[in-house]
Amino acid sequence: MAMLWLMLVGLSVVCQGHPGIQIQDLDDELYTEVRDLLNKHATHRAPANALSRPKEVVGWPRPLPHLGQVTGVAVNSRGQPVIFHRGPRVWDTSCFNASHHFQHVAEGPIAVSTVLTLEPETGAVIGDWGRNLFYMPHGITLNAEDNVWLTDVALHQVFKFRPGETFPALTLGEPFSPGDGPTRLCQPTAVAVASSGQAFVADGNCNHRVLMLSPRGRLIRLIPLPSEFLSLQVPHGLALIEALDLLCIADRENMRVACPRAGLVPYMSAQPVSIQAADLGRVFGVVAVGGLVYAVNGPTSLQIPVRGFTLDPRSETAIDRWGPSAGFRSPHGIAISPNGTAMYVTEIGPNKVWKFSLAGGGVQ
Ligand SMILES: *[C@@H]1O[C@H](CO)[C@@H](O)[C@H](O)[C@H]1NC(C)=O
Ligand SMILES: *[C@@H]1O[C@H](CO)[C@@H](O)[C@H](O)[C@H]1NC(C)=O
Repeated sequence: MAMLWLMLVGLSVVCQGHPGIQIQDLDDELYTEVRDLLNKHATHRAPANALSRPKEVVGWPRPLPHLGQVTGVAVNSRGQPVIFHRGPRVWDTSCFNASHHFQHVAEGPIAVSTVLTLEPETGAVIGDWGRNLFYMPHGITLNAEDNVWLTDVALHQVFKFRPGETFPALTLGEPFSPGDGPTRLCQPTAVAVASSGQAFVADGNCNHRVLMLSPRGRLIRLIPLPSEFLSLQVPHGLALIEALDLLCIADRENMRVACPRAGLVPYMSAQPVSIQAADLGRVFGVVAVGGLVYAVNGPTSLQIPVRGFTLDPRSETAIDRWGPSAGFRSPHGIAISPNGTAMYVTEIGPNKVWKFSLAGGGVQ
C-alpha cells in the first residue's frame, strides 16, 4: 500500500508537474461545512436507501481472468462488461519525461489482447482484441450502438472503433506527440458519448480541459470556456446526465465532481453543479444513472477511506458510501449496464474487476 501510494505520488509529479495531493485550506473547509449544514436542511435531497446502494456480487468473477492494470470498463448493449487493461505494462515514474513524452516507445505496443469482453454472470472472458495497438491503455466507453472509444495516454490519442473492427473509424491526436492545440491531446483519460453522437474527451493529465466534438470528430468547443469560471485539475472520468444537460467530470485533483452545462440542448440553460464532500478525496471514476452519480475515489490521504460514493447532483452532496466487504485499494474505472441492474468497478493494483448489483437504476 505504501509502495503504491509512493508510486502514485511519484506519478503525479511526473505527469502533472505538481504533487498529487492538495491540502484544502481553511476557507475551503469552512465552506464545505457550511454547505453540508445547509444541505442537511434541504428538502429536495434524494434519500439514500436500499435501492440506490450497490451490492457486491460475492465470488464474481470465476474463473479469475489474468489481468494487467484494469484502467477502464464499459458495458455493451447486451449487458456484457468490456474492460481495457495494460497487460504486462505498468505505469511508473520511468514512463514519461517532464514534457509528457512516453519514454518506452521502442518496447512497441502491448502484445496481448487489451480489450476483453466478459460474460456478465460468471466473468469468463468471451471475447478479446486489441493486441499490438496500444501502449498505455486508459479509458473505454461504449455507446448504444457498441462503438468503442478508447484513450491511450502514451500515444496521446483517442480512437473510435466500430463494433468488430480493429482499424479505427476516427482518431484524435498525434501519436506520441503531446500538445494543447486543437489537434493534439496530452494523456487523454476518458470519453463520454451523447445519444446524438457528440462526444466529450477528457484531456486529461496535463491539459486539464474537456473537448466537445461533433459526431465526426470536429472540435465544437472547449470546457471550460473562460466565461465558465471553472478550473479543472486532472479531469479523469466523465458521465453525461442528458436529461439535465450536465457533463459530470471526475475533477480528480480538485477532489470533487464538477458538472458544467454539457451544451447538448441549445435552449436549455442548465445550472452547473459542483459536488464535494470532506471525505470524497481524489475522484477517479464517475457514472450517472437514474438522476444519481456514482463515483470511486483513489488513495488520497490516511484520513480518507478509498470507497464508492453515491452523489446527488440536486443537493450537491454525497448521500451514501459503499464498497466491497474486503474494501477497495485503488479503483480506477466504473460503469453501469444499460438496464441499470449491474455496476462494475476496476482496480489498478491489485488488478481486478468487481461486480455490484443495483436494484434497477437507483432512485428516480
Ligand atoms: C438486465 O440485463 C441483464 C444482462 O443483459 C439481464 O440478464 C437482466 O435480466 C436484465 N434485467 C432487467 C430487469 O431487465
Ligand atoms: C522528452 O522526450 C522526448 C523524446 O521522447 C524529447 O523530444 C523531449 O525533448 C524530452 N523532453 C524533456 C523535457 O526532456
